[in-house]
Amino acid sequence: MIITLTNQKGGCGKSTATMNLALGTAAMNYKTALIDTDEQKSCLETLEEYPKSNLSIYDGGDDVDTLVAELKDDFHFIFIDTPPHSHHIMYKAMAVADFIIIPLQASPLDIRSAKRTIDACHKVQKEAGRDIPCYFLLNRVNPRTNLSKEIGAYIRELYTVPLLQSRLHNRVAYAQSLMHGKSVIEHNRSSDAAMEVKKLLKEVHRIFQKERKKKD
Ligand SMILES: Nc1ncnc2c1ncn2[C@@H]1O[C@H](COP(=O)(O)OP(=O)(O)OP(=O)(O)O)[C@@H](O)[C@H]1O
Ligand SMILES: [Mg+2]
Repeated sequence: MIITLTNQKGGCGKSTATMNLALGTAAMNYKTALIDTDEQKSCLETLEEYPKSNLSIYDGGDDVDTLVAELKDDFHFIFIDTPPHSHHIMYKAMAVADFIIIPLQASPLDIRSAKRTIDACHKVQKEAGRDIPCYFLLNRVNPRTNLSKEIGAYIRELYTVPLLQSRLHNRVAYAQSLMHGKSVIEHNRSSDAAMEVKKLLKEVHRIFQKERKKKD
């Protein structure tokens, strides 16, 4: 399964979510690859000194489609982190995906700025002639507020793209754990952050299985 995390908006949590999902999947004993297509190399540099069993990290870019074709039979899961602003790489990374996650902060400005990413996603699906499940993931949600209903309604007014039920809250654990090359699950497996990442992994997997059954 190939999962692309993308949003042209910078700083919305693409790399943080990609690393936590990839590390979480590898820890569950799935053979996992992470392709970092961003020239900032956030994932590569954050994790390079911390080798993990079941996780291989690749430096990708413009060649992401070729790289995925080479790797896909060798891994259960491939996660692709994408750069902000590069329409070209984002487009290619979406075209090879089985599942697209668009991390997004829970603010009207961030929600509105996802428009170009969503338009690209629709275009990719049309050109590829296949439905690629595409979902928003709310990130950095303030744990002390409950804006969920309002934000959900705001998103539905603008887009047809659904919102994952799981969300990631604004927690220091996301920065703290990565300082040691760890996911929030490895950092403290019973923490609230670990729970929400596990929930997200399960939800993505469940949706993917459901979509696959629909196609069969
Ligand atoms: N759930 C979270 N809780 C707290 N901090 C977070 C969370 N998610 C991301 N951050 C912080 O927000 C900042 C931006 O996150 P990140 O680098 O993952 O975003 P990005 O979308 O990959 O950015 P870019 O577009 O520049 O590649 C980082 O400092 C990261 O530690
Ligand atoms: Mg990034």
